[in-house]
Amino acid sequence: MSEVFTGEAYDLASDGQAVVRHPAGYVVFVAGLWPGETAQIRILQYKKKHAIGEIAGMESASTNRRKPPCRFHGAGSQDCGGCPWMFIDYEAQLQAKYDRVKRSIEKLPHSREALRPIVRSENEFSYRNRAQFKTNGKRLGFVSARNKQLVTVDDCLILSEKNRETLSELIAALPEKRWQPGKRKVFTTLDIDESRDAAQVSINRRLPFLQANTAQNNRMREWLAQKARTIETQTIIELFCGSGNFTEVIVENSKATILAIEVADEALGVLASKKLANVEIICADLFDQASLSRALAAHQHAEVLILDPPRDGFKLTQATLALLSKLKHVIYISCDLATWTRDANDFIAHDFVLRELQPLDQFPQTPHIELLSHFERKP
Ligand SMILES: C[S@@+](CC[C@H](N)C(=O)[O-])C[C@H]1O[C@@H](n2cnc3c(N)ncnc32)[C@H](O)[C@@H]1O
Repeated sequence: MSEVFTGEAYDLASDGQAVVRHPAGYVVFVAGLWPGETAQIRILQYKKKHAIGEIAGMESASTNRRKPPCRFHGAGSQDCGGCPWMFIDYEAQLQAKYDRVKRSIEKLPHSREALRPIVRSENEFSYRNRAQFKTNGKRLGFVSARNKQLVTVDDCLILSEKNRETLSELIAALPEKRWQPGKRKVFTTLDIDESRDAAQVSINRRLPFLQANTAQNNRMREWLAQKARTIETQTIIELFCGSGNFTEVIVENSKATILAIEVADEALGVLASKKLANVEIICADLFDQASLSRALAAHQHAEVLILDPPRDGFKLTQATLALLSKLKHVIYISCDLATWTRDANDFIAHDFVLRELQPLDQFPQTPHIELLSHFERKP
């Protein structure tokens, strides 16, 4: 018999699970529970220093708890793991995201004043302009957060209307021999976005990066445009430029020459096809110090650095600061609070001050948070 205890959630972990203290002192992570709620918790797995639990029965529920609008939502092995916060109303989700950012920034020296109110998503649902499905050729869906099993779905409320139609068309095409997983593969992946219909689905090939919430991406672009207009300079270095989503904005709002750097050839091909004026494109692995140094060698006088790294953040902050000794402004767009905080500490340790931190919600129903930040070197 597995152990069951009664516990109150007192916090949220970075992956969105509730944190509960077991009477014996260790921490238990529980999906589908919210801070302040009390539940009977069944231990599923003991780890070295913590445990994983599930709700065996609710004792007291948050007033923000709601019936999840999607029937595939849940924390069990047969439930889709895509929207772990859907059981809580959007206001409470936003507050939890803001509070996490606030707690992090309070630990950074002299940075509290920089925090702005969170920018909410206009659409709580119907916002995703791209998606990746898993299929075995017979069934199609997403994976459960619990055990990575295929969970069959026939709809997804966070997808844009166009993508929901594409999902229906893909389901109608089942069974599909071409989607059977190859040897040693459990699933085939199908990538879609709004520019393609079901016949053009990308099979086992990731599409170039695209900010997944168009309306919120437009807000990020507006924020960046305002920065590009007000910071006067001759050279801007843009790291992790992808296919130029932000490069376009910088070109439109600054007279500077832009050095746009990225590792993915396909994304750089898209950027090159935009034929933007004053943009020099370089392909480089920005997690490799030698490659980074080569890319920046001819531009060591640059005063402005703009970067939008993947979740890992920018590991080479210190090396970059050593190379670019004339830097005055750093515009850092991040999709991960933990790595942003690590890198922010590096900038602050090198005489930068956090002028602005704008949290923005790109992904309602999930714990993800986007951070738009501006650091300026002390005079
Ligand atoms: C969050 S996306 C940002 C892209 C772009 N700013 C946009 O808004 O579409 C991060 C980008 O970093 C790129 N990337 C990931 N690892 C990299 C690496 N080691 N070196 C250079 N670029 C990398 C990805 O290909 C992706 O385009």
